Amino acid sequence: MTSSPKSFLSEKVAHFSESVIREMSREAVKYQAVNLAQGFPDFPAPEEIKRAAQEAVGKDINQYAITWGSRHLRAAIARQMQLWQSVTIDPETEITVCCGSTEAMMASLLATTNPGDEVIIFEPYYENYGPDTILSGAKPRFVKLRPPAARSDHTEDAEWTFDEAELRAAFHAHTKAIIVNTPNNPTGKVFSRAELELIRDLCLQHNVLAITDEIYEHIIFDNTKHISMMELDGMRDRTIVINGMSKTYSVTGWRVGWAVAPPLITDAIRKVHDFLTVGAPAPLQEAGAAALSLPPAYYDDLKARYLARRNHLIPILEQAGFRCFRPRGAYYVMTDISVFGFPNDRAFAHHLVKEIGVACVPGSSFYNDPRDGASQVRFAFCKRPETINAAAERLTKLAQPKLVQPKLRKI
Ligand SMILES: Cc1ncc(COP(=O)(O)O)c(C=O)c1O
Repeated sequence: MTSSPKSFLSEKVAHFSESVIREMSREAVKYQAVNLAQGFPDFPAPEEIKRAAQEAVGKDINQYAITWGSRHLRAAIARQMQLWQSVTIDPETEITVCCGSTEAMMASLLATTNPGDEVIIFEPYYENYGPDTILSGAKPRFVKLRPPAARSDHTEDAEWTFDEAELRAAFHAHTKAIIVNTPNNPTGKVFSRAELELIRDLCLQHNVLAITDEIYEHIIFDNTKHISMMELDGMRDRTIVINGMSKTYSVTGWRVGWAVAPPLITDAIRKVHDFLTVGAPAPLQEAGAAALSLPPAYYDDLKARYLARRNHLIPILEQAGFRCFRPRGAYYVMTDISVFGFPNDRAFAHHLVKEIGVACVPGSSFYNDPRDGASQVRFAFCKRPETINAAAERLTKLAQPKLVQPKLRKI
């Protein structure tokens, strides 16, 4: 008797592929390339917080923490949200500490969406949001962020923008949530108050939840101000704020993040989180409480250092022929590679890592339709000056784009 073989795989996994960002890190190791692909610092984490982690292990804070997070860390998160966002949070009922903001986003989507629900995502987007939405059973609906028009000096100061009509059209009866990532990976866009207010108005009009990934809130340039959606009138009860330690404290490997949401939603997130991971690493949560108690000077210094790194990398990329979109926040530069004449971003990124020895992330990994990112690649600048200099040296081998020769006038 013949019957079609039963698949051992979930249909969900057929709808997305492995992370290209993480794949490029492996390629960097394979070709001994300078890794400007994945967003992790190659400089040490702050001494104070490493000491706090060592002390916590020494004090035997080594068993399961409270499932939704250590009391000290939740108190520190609530204190910080009051300080930075002027939002009053009850740490007992409104915070869930997770294994990184990655888990916080996944747990939030699993806790709030049903099959048939749609989740609006601005694209280009941090590549996890697509699979997160699909794994939670919902459907992503993309709204485009458009790059600023080309200028002759290669560097774009203008913002990536979205079309109001396109955003309005994306909201309808099945819309459950919108994900807003500000400061944004990969574009470096920082959403303005007017843009957030428009999103707020649409959320209120259509009874939609805002899930805001604010993991780069302290990495911000050019006097731009980070505004959390939760601060806006009317949004306190319909916003989930996702944040974490990875970027602000340079500890991407610690896997400590959190979701802040009104009590009813937090109840649901905590249930999902419990069965996903039981809890985040206990000693590192204690160190998290110490990190979130660092003085304001820490954040000024963080900003100043990242500004210097941004201003170090951009001229190097421009010199090599890239057109750079100057980021206002986060630690990436999105670039246009049309001038190099490669068939697409993947072919270019492969050439760059293998032949030139610099790893970047192909732009298509940030778009639903790969063609939309075919002329873009992203570089990360969360690296030591030596690393950026090593990349600069290698990039001199990159064939200079052909200059367009002015037509000779016949006399
Ligand atoms: C926008 C954004 N959200 C979340 C993450 C992952 O954060 P975590 O290390 O807290 O899981 C990243 C990492 O690059 C990111 O860029």
